[in-house]
Amino acid sequence: MPTVYPVNLTAPLLLLLLWATHPTVATNWLSLARLPRNRPVSGAAPCARLRGLTPGQVGVCRARGEVMESVCKAAEMVIEECQHQFRNRRWNCSTTPRGINVFGRVMNQGTREAAFVYALSSAALAVAVTRACTRGELERCGCDRKVRGVSPEGFQWSGCSDNLSYGVAFSQTFVDDPERAKVLSAGRPLMNLHNNEAGRKAILHNMHVECKCHGVSGSCELRTCWKVMPPFRRVSAVLKERFDGATEVRLTRVGSRTALLSRDPQVKPPAARDLLYLAPSPDFCHLDPDNGIPGTAGRRCNGTSRLAPDGCELVCCGSGYRAGRAEVVQRCSCKFSWCCSVRCQQCKNTVTIHTCRV
Ligand SMILES: *[C@@H]1O[C@H](CO)[C@@H](O)[C@H](O)[C@H]1NC(C)=O
Ligand SMILES: *[C@@H]1O[C@H](CO)[C@@H](O)[C@H](O)[C@H]1NC(C)=O
Ligand SMILES: *[C@@H]1O[C@H](CO)[C@@H](O)[C@H](O)[C@H]1NC(C)=O
Repeated sequence: MPTVYPVNLTAPLLLLLLWATHPTVATNWLSLARLPRNRPVSGAAPCARLRGLTPGQVGVCRARGEVMESVCKAAEMVIEECQHQFRNRRWNCSTTPRGINVFGRVMNQGTREAAFVYALSSAALAVAVTRACTRGELERCGCDRKVRGVSPEGFQWSGCSDNLSYGVAFSQTFVDDPERAKVLSAGRPLMNLHNNEAGRKAILHNMHVECKCHGVSGSCELRTCWKVMPPFRRVSAVLKERFDGATEVRLTRVGSRTALLSRDPQVKPPAARDLLYLAPSPDFCHLDPDNGIPGTAGRRCNGTSRLAPDGCELVCCGSGYRAGRAEVVQRCSCKFSWCCSVRCQQCKNTVTIHTCRV
C-alpha cells in the first residue's frame, strides 16, 4: 500500500530529529530521585522500565540490583546538595517539573554548572554505595579492616573503616563507562570524565579518622579508630569552591592525542581535583522554560552583601530589587530538660527581606 511509505520514511527521520534536539545527557539517571521510594527498583523487568538509564546502567541494575537503592539515594543527595549550595545564586539548581533531564538543558552544554553537577553526581554515588557497604547492606563488600595507622597521640588503630574502593569502583562503572563509550577524542566526554574523577577526589582528600574509647568510665585505655568519609555537605561545599575556581579549557591536540588544556595560557594547567568546563554559561537572568532556567524575577537576595554572588546587584542582574517585611517563625527560649530533651518556644520575628523586581 502506498500509504505505508511516508510512515516508513518519516519514522527514522523523526527519531533522528528527536535524538538531535534531545541529546542523551549522562546525568539522566538523576531522575531516579523522582521514583516513589516505597517500591524496590531491582529485578530484571523493573530495570528495563527505568527511564533515564543508559543500556550499560540497565545492565548494572540487572546484575547488581541491591545497589540500586543507593543509586536512588545518590540522586536525591545530588538534587538536595546542589539546591543547598546554589540557593543564593542566579542558577539555583531548579528542577524541571517532569521528565528525565532533571536540571533541564542546562546540562546539555559543557558549562561550569554541568561540571559541578557531574562531579557532585559521581561523588554522591561513591558516598551512597560506600555507606551501604559500611552498614553491611551489600553482599559483595563490607567495611575495611585492613586500613590501620597510628594516631597523632600514638594510638594504633584499625576499626571498621568506610571501604571507599568499592563505592569508587561502582561510581566509575556507573558514570564513567557511558562516557568511555562515546568518541573519546571529543571535548565533552573528556570534560565529563575529568569532572567525575574530581568529584571522587573531593571525598578521598577529605577522609578523616574517628575514634571511640573503651575502658572503665571512659578512661580511654583502649581505642578503636576507623576512617570515615566526610559528611556529604562537606563534599558539596568543596566542590562548590572548585566551581567558583573552575578552569575554562579547550580541546587541544597534543602529539597524536587530544587533551583539555587551559584556554588562557597564563593560567596554570588544571589539576586533577579542579573542575573543567568548555563553554561559558548563559547569564541565567531571564525565564527560559525550554532550557529549564527559572530566571531571577521575584527571587530572594541578600541586600547587605553588595557585590557578593548572593547580593542583590548580581542575583537580580542589575534590574533592581525591593525590600519587604516578612514574618519568620523560629525556635527560641530553648530549655534543656532532664533527661534528655530540649523544649523550645516558637517566636515570631519580623525581618527585612529583599527580592528581585518582577
Ligand atoms: C573493600 O572493597 C574492595 C573492592 O571491592 C575489596 O577488594 C576489599 O576486599 C574490600 N575490603 C574489605 C575489608 O571488605
Ligand atoms: C529557584 O528560583 C525560582 C525562581 O526565582 C524559584 O521559583 C524556585 O523555587 C527556586 N528553586 C529552588 C530549588 O530554590
Ligand atoms: C547577607 O550577607 C551578609 C554578609 O555577607 C551575611 O552576614 C548575612 O548573613 C547574609 N544574609 C542572609 C539573609 O543570607
